[in-house]
Amino acid sequence: MAKNKPRIGILTGGGDCPGLNAVIRAVVKAAFMRGWETVGFRGGYEGLLPPAQYCALDYKQLGGLLVMGGTILGTSNRGRFAAKTGKEGQVNRLAPKILADAQATAKRLRLKGLICVGGDGSLTIAQQLFEAGIPVVGVPKTIDNDLEATVMTFGFDSAVCCATDALDRLHTTAESHNRVLVLEVMGRHAGWIAVSAGISGGGDIILIPEIPFRYESICAKIREREKMGKHFTIVVAAEGARQSGGGLVVQDAAAKDREVRLGGLGAVVAKEIEKRTGKESRVCVLGHLQRGGGPTSFDRLLCTRFGARAVQLIADAKFGHMVALRPPDTVAVPITEAIGRLRKVPVDGDLVQTGRALGISFGD
Ligand code: F6P
Repeated sequence: MAKNKPRIGILTGGGDCPGLNAVIRAVVKAAFMRGWETVGFRGGYEGLLPPAQYCALDYKQLGGLLVMGGTILGTSNRGRFAAKTGKEGQVNRLAPKILADAQATAKRLRLKGLICVGGDGSLTIAQQLFEAGIPVVGVPKTIDNDLEATVMTFGFDSAVCCATDALDRLHTTAESHNRVLVLEVMGRHAGWIAVSAGISGGGDIILIPEIPFRYESICAKIREREKMGKHFTIVVAAEGARQSGGGLVVQDAAAKDREVRLGGLGAVVAKEIEKRTGKESRVCVLGHLQRGGGPTSFDRLLCTRFGARAVQLIADAKFGHMVALRPPDTVAVPITEAIGRLRKVPVDGDLVQTGRALGISFGD
C-alpha cells in the first residue's frame, strides 16, 4: 500500500446477495480514478477488529467482479457485530471496547472513509460506528428490499428473477400433474419478493406477511379455478407470512448473536391445502438460491451507481449517510432514515392492487 495516497475502506456485512462484488468493483474503480487506494476488510465488521483482517484492492488486479456472485471479502450475519437479536429483533448496542478497536483500525490505516455495504442490521452497526467517530458511508443491500429511504436495495431484482424463473418451471409440472404447487420464498418480515415474483411469474395465490391469510380463502380460490377448468394452482408463500390469528413458522428461535430463522411455512400450507381440498399438493423451498449467483443487469447497473456514488459521498465528506435510489437519481440520505423500521409492502398499494385486479388471491 502506498504511504501517502488517500485511502478508503470497504466491507460487506449481513447475509450475502447478488451484486456485492459489483459494488466492490465500482468503489475500487471510482476510487482509483480519483487517485485513491482501497482496502477491503474481510468477514464483515469482524475484519475491523485487531489485528484487522484486510487486503489492498488493486483495480488493475481485479477481474470479473461485475458478474460474480457472493462477496470476495466474505461476510457474516451473526457474532460480535450482530445488530439485531431476540424475538422482536431488538437492537444491540456495540460494546465500547469493540467501537474503540474499530476506530483504532480506521485511524491506523488513515481511512478517509469506510463504506459499509449492508441491510438493516449492518447499517444499524454502521450508524453506531459513525457515532463513535468513524467516517462511515452506507450502501443499501438486501434481497428482502425492506429498507426505508431507498426505493430499492440491490440484490432484490436478482432474487425476484430467480423466484420468477422457479415459478415458470413450477407451472409446467403443476399443470402436467393437476397439482397445487407452493413456492416458499425468502424476504423475512416483508413480502416484496413474494408479491413481485408472484405477479411476474403468474402466481394464483400470494401470501405475504403484510396480509394475514385464511385457509378458507385459499381453498375457495383453488375450487374457483377448478370450476374454470384450471386443475392446477400456483401458490407463492413468503416465509414470513402468517395465518390470521396465527404465528410465524420458524426453523430456529432467535439467539444471543442472531435473529430468528424463518422457514417451513410452504410445507405447512401445502399440507393444509391437500387436507382441505383433497388436491395433491407439493412444496418447493427456493431458499438460498435466491441469494446465490451473479446479479441481473438491473442489479449490476444499480450496484455500479451505488458504488460510484458512495465514493462521491466520501469526497463530499457526507459521512453518516447512505446512498439511495430515488428515481431517476441516486441520492444521499442519513443512515438513520433507513434503519429501525422495516419497509413493508403497502396493502393498498399498486402491487397488491395490480394482483387483485388480475384475480390473484392474497388469502384474505
Ligand atoms: O435477509 C436476507 C435473508 O436471505 C432473508 O430473506 C432470510 O430470512 C435470511 O436472510 C436467511 O438467513 P440465513 O442465511 O442466515 O439463513
